[in-house]
Amino acid sequence: MNNWIEDGRNHIWHPFTQMKTAPAPLPVIRGEKEYLFLEDGTRLIDGISSWWVTLHGHSHPKIAEAIASQAKTLEQVIFAGFVHEPAAKLSKRLSVLWQNHLTRSFFSDDGSTAVEVALKMSIQSRVNQGNKKRNQIIALEHAYHGDTLGAMSVGERSIWTAPFHSLLFEVVRMPSPVAESGPSAEEHKQYCLDSLMSYLEFHHESVSAIIVEPLVHGASGMLMWAPGALSEIRKLTSKYGIHLIADEIMTGFGRTGKWFACNHEEVFPDIVCLSKGLTGGFLPMSITMCTEEIYEQFLSDDRMKAFFHGHSYTANPIACAAANASLDVFEEEKTLEKIVAIENLHQSRLKDYENHPLVADARIQGTIFAVEIKNPDGGYFSAIGPKLYDFYLKNGVLLRPLGNTVYILPPFCISPENLGKIHDLILESLNWILKEPV
Ligand SMILES: Cc1ncc(COP(=O)(O)O)c(C=O)c1O
Repeated sequence: MNNWIEDGRNHIWHPFTQMKTAPAPLPVIRGEKEYLFLEDGTRLIDGISSWWVTLHGHSHPKIAEAIASQAKTLEQVIFAGFVHEPAAKLSKRLSVLWQNHLTRSFFSDDGSTAVEVALKMSIQSRVNQGNKKRNQIIALEHAYHGDTLGAMSVGERSIWTAPFHSLLFEVVRMPSPVAESGPSAEEHKQYCLDSLMSYLEFHHESVSAIIVEPLVHGASGMLMWAPGALSEIRKLTSKYGIHLIADEIMTGFGRTGKWFACNHEEVFPDIVCLSKGLTGGFLPMSITMCTEEIYEQFLSDDRMKAFFHGHSYTANPIACAAANASLDVFEEEKTLEKIVAIENLHQSRLKDYENHPLVADARIQGTIFAVEIKNPDGGYFSAIGPKLYDFYLKNGVLLRPLGNTVYILPPFCISPENLGKIHDLILESLNWILKEPV
């Protein structure tokens, strides 16, 4: 066995992993396009963009070169009192993508910190206006916004958050307008909107913000929203002067079929959280964008009104260079066309699932495809998830089911053949379960 694998086994603590019982992690040595290459020569198709980050493919040469060149020019600089071109350029480009409704970019390190920044930004903007009482946050059922304490607080309470409940702050939890199939769909959406409306009618003066994952609850099982709900939430929040925080950490940069999930309903949030695909999936970085109006609440001769937040690596120049290169690739490789092709391929395979006896639901939002498997033992720790994970790996594909939901969230460079292969494999796995029930 190679020494580095042994070293890792002795010294690394992996995320979301029961280190006692989990199989040894797979040693990966190289990535290219949609492929990951293991130490033993195995080639895997990455069907989940390595935790939803990889956009244009692994080790994309254009982004790799931009990183190398930036590293040789300016690798890092304190971002209080200094600025650099990659960050300035990136913030302007993002504002343009948001049609200048969101004008200011605040940099941090990952999805969770982008959420922390969004919450603090909303609350402090109220305090700066002399309104300390407007301090409630509304969050939705099924929500996942990250693993730091503030991000966990706005996420739905679950087995993952249970050990920390005594530390989490309370939020107002509202039902989520997930698209329930069948005749109740419209009723459910209306119920969610009515619940929000009646709460706001009486309590809006206490509410600072509502945070949502627009159109798709990712970690809760790729649950997709009823169309129209997001724009209705926008109307309500505008009516009552409540900040709409769109957590586009997973949905941003083309995942849902448009640049951002909010674009589907022509919604402009007051604050948006971006990460994951921001750097094309190369480096950890996040940005919390906000409107000029929110930004202006922090402008004052009083230094106490400055936004008190920052990280050592805020706006790291190398990560900014990667993000700029990723946006270039969108243009140069016509990535939005690739995204449409991925969605079309998913659509063309939908009927194969809908007729399958084990399928409870199959759904698509842009490049994201999800199939929920009928499973009596349900829940996230259902035995079916790990069994399927192994089955897919043995067949050369990385898919990581969320409980009994299998999903595909591919890098945009994936070939139609490989995407077709993944669908074939999922269908094969359903037939395999039929023959050998868990
Ligand atoms: C919607 C959403 N928000 C926040 C996060 C947290 O991001 P990170 O894991 O980079 O902290 C995630 C991660 O999956 C996410 O899907």
